[in-house]
Amino acid sequence: MGTMTKTPPSTIALDGPAASGKSTVGKRLADQLGYLFFDTGIMYRAVTWIALSRDMDLKNEAAVTAMAQETQIDIRQPTQNDGRACDILVEDRDITWDIRSGNVEAYVSIVAAYAGVRKALTDQQRRIGLRGGVVMVGRDIGTVVLPEADLKVYMIASAEERARRRHTELTARGEESNYDEILSKMIERDRIDSTRAVAPLRPADDALILDTDNMNESQVYERIMELCK
Ligand code: DC
Repeated sequence: MGTMTKTPPSTIALDGPAASGKSTVGKRLADQLGYLFFDTGIMYRAVTWIALSRDMDLKNEAAVTAMAQETQIDIRQPTQNDGRACDILVEDRDITWDIRSGNVEAYVSIVAAYAGVRKALTDQQRRIGLRGGVVMVGRDIGTVVLPEADLKVYMIASAEERARRRHTELTARGEESNYDEILSKMIERDRIDSTRAVAPLRPADDALILDTDNMNESQVYERIMELCK
């Protein structure tokens, strides 16, 4: 018999709560493997940003859903070297950093709880994921978007640790940041994300749970690379 050659998993799903380190490690993993890095939170943030910029009533599920179905969100190679992983465009406007604002953070969980919005975005995510060669990051990748993913990792960290990371990140970008405020908002966002009726935040039955509280970025990366082998 010939020797078995192990190829890395073609579809990798990284899920977990806000600021659990998914994006950082996902990007690094994707670059190393030559895969597409797809951060699905971008899409929920972009829909929220559009709704806010159009002064839409966020409580109007039908209107927000119709908009999510119609709007084209473009994700392209980065054209600026300012720490972004990609350019995010809506109607030719660059909203890469706008979608990271506190205002979007405050409302995104409401938008992400709408079944019609999720259906529209999940369909697009799944189509891209099924091509393979992808590291997809989100809340429901292993459970809903790509249940057949070759490797599923669910990353956790305490709310305090995640708030500390987010605080450091914002401060490094020169933005104003208040740790206590971040912590309470993060706990609230986790609560909405994990208790919503459609695709709540939870690990898939076959996901590997990785507690990153006492790990640095490199250790998390090395651990997932090991799992890929
Ligand atoms: O990962 P993030 O912080 O950029 O995600 C923003 C919001 O989008 C988050 O509150 C939950 C939602 N989200 C989701 O419901 N499903 C995903 N696959 C990704 C994000």
